[in-house]
Amino acid sequence: MKNIPLTKLAALSALLLPASLFAVDAPAPTLTLDLSKPVIKFAPTFYGLMTEEINHAYDGGLYAELIQNRQFKDDAQSPVHWSLVGDTASGSSIALDTTQPVNEAQTVALKLEAKPAGGKPVGITNEGFWGVPVKPDTTYRASFFAKGSADAQLRVGIQNTDGTTTYAQTAVTSISSAWKRYTVTLATAKDAPALSNGRFVITTTTPGTYWFSLVSLFPPTFKNRPNGNRVDLMQELVDLKPAFLRCPGGNYLEGNSPETHFVWKQTLGDIAERPGHMGTWGYRSSDGMGLLEFMEWAEDMGAEPVLAVYAGFSLPTKEHRSGTAIPTGDAMKPYVEEALDEIEYVTGDAGTKWGARRIADGHPQPFPLQYVEIGNEDFVGDAKKTYDARFAQFYDAIKAKYPQLQCIATIPVKSRKADVLDEHHYATSVEMMDLAHRYDKFDRHGPKIFVGEWATRELVETAPDGTVNYARMPWSYKQIPTPSLHAALGDAAFLTGMERNADLIVMNCYAPLFVHDNPGAYQWSPNLIGYDSLRSYLSPAYYVQKMFSAHRGDSTVNQTLTGEPKTFFANATIDHAKGAVYVKVVNLAGTEQPLSINLDGVTAVDAEAQAAILTAPTPGAVNSLAQPDNVKPSTTRFSGLGKQFTHTFPANSLTIIELKIK
Ligand code: AHR
Repeated sequence: MKNIPLTKLAALSALLLPASLFAVDAPAPTLTLDLSKPVIKFAPTFYGLMTEEINHAYDGGLYAELIQNRQFKDDAQSPVHWSLVGDTASGSSIALDTTQPVNEAQTVALKLEAKPAGGKPVGITNEGFWGVPVKPDTTYRASFFAKGSADAQLRVGIQNTDGTTTYAQTAVTSISSAWKRYTVTLATAKDAPALSNGRFVITTTTPGTYWFSLVSLFPPTFKNRPNGNRVDLMQELVDLKPAFLRCPGGNYLEGNSPETHFVWKQTLGDIAERPGHMGTWGYRSSDGMGLLEFMEWAEDMGAEPVLAVYAGFSLPTKEHRSGTAIPTGDAMKPYVEEALDEIEYVTGDAGTKWGARRIADGHPQPFPLQYVEIGNEDFVGDAKKTYDARFAQFYDAIKAKYPQLQCIATIPVKSRKADVLDEHHYATSVEMMDLAHRYDKFDRHGPKIFVGEWATRELVETAPDGTVNYARMPWSYKQIPTPSLHAALGDAAFLTGMERNADLIVMNCYAPLFVHDNPGAYQWSPNLIGYDSLRSYLSPAYYVQKMFSAHRGDSTVNQTLTGEPKTFFANATIDHAKGAVYVKVVNLAGTEQPLSINLDGVTAVDAEAQAAILTAPTPGAVNSLAQPDNVKPSTTRFSGLGKQFTHTFPANSLTIIELKIK
């Protein structure tokens, strides 16, 4: 079947839900489930996660580092996010210094000319990622390279914004004229407050010139991994029970030039060995979240990586409007080698060069790997349509060395038969309602499908007369970091369609995953999970993911949904081991809606069932840092059920009923 254009490319225009979707005199809807007919088994990988460095997803997000611009490379002209602190009237100053590199990776230092007088300290402070979080009874680990002209003592600490309160502090002695790395712990008291806007300071009372490089501060991390991840965000991901992690996905993989793609070899080992690089979303990446960290992140969630390898294509920029494609053949060989080495790092044993390197980096066991994605969205900016040939060169090399791996193409290819095709859908809820049927008649002889990025993007607008319109969200829109209830229901409708086509769709993942919810911190709306430096909150779309994931079952059952309105969506899955059928019903309309449900091919259905419901008084309801629980699922018990029953589903709702069958 010919693929329709990806919805991401659809024209920008305002949308209303067409009135025909809400016809009230149409036949009442009926969902018939026939359990005597064959079921469609889910691929174990069906539900997963996609990730890239966007919206400060890693630095200032999941990666637990608390210092922003720890390498002093974020701006070549000034030490952004750093300032002079303490006795600022003393004539002291700070400036970037590129003449005192620590090593080849840490090439920039912050120079402090300290002229403290009268025992008043002066020093440097970092504002963190829109604040350094202070938590009670918490031990932080700070580390930095330093040297100085004087044999001095430094004080390292965590304070409130204006430095009037110090929550944790320690001394570092014997700063000398040679670079040395210092590591200290900072412990807050049990009665310290929890606040998001603290700051990190290093001060001295000894006049002299001091240099600092790679200044780092970590709170406790998930599973106490050194250089690890933020605990709350990891737990929220684990709760979704993802089967895979697509990493490092999206534009971040490609870079704005071949030089700034995700060069995984520069993300290994001690963070002091990592130069960092410019990302694609307007800010640098520290590369603290490197290849091994991606793999361990997947491992810590009980998920397997879906490894995205650079495919010799970098994004269009103002200077290069059609992107940069490396010519296939000899010029591409180093990039193909880079991909093969990357796979070896992930899966190789001690007898291989890169497997041995992974072991030396601290992970003896190879990681599981089934899928390798070649590139990302290669329909964007590749004016000369080079992907087919690029795909072929990577595919042949990967299959020759790793025949067991499944190769994912990012657009349809003719040169080879891709094992899997990655489709991306960013669409309004109206389009999602169509997309819920996209795969029903899709070609079953072609590649399997990975819906590797998708999300409902729309603006909910209420007119003065109370009419609710659903408008297309412009790509540049950044006011709402996380989606509304109605957008989440668009997601749920699409999920019913994907589940129904589980014979074709082997994986899917919402995107983007994370947003640092602070003006200036994010580039994209909407996103699944929001946070500041201290707190996080879950969007309605997160709850949809969690509800589906918690009720995935092992197969989709044979079913027919008849009648109107077209804003009604349903899918039923079965968990054979539990003897449970999960009926998932989405009502995208602003009015409640009855649905008759028939179960054929079963002996009996328990009269009572547990149900989970996601709804809110208004379709535009969102969660936020201030109101994290505005939209949340609730559970209830339904009674009066049987092989045939009718239930009225609330306006703007997702309901999942857990029927016990015999
Ligand atoms: O998820 C945000 C972006 O959308 C990704 O970087 C890219 O793959 C897609 O265009």
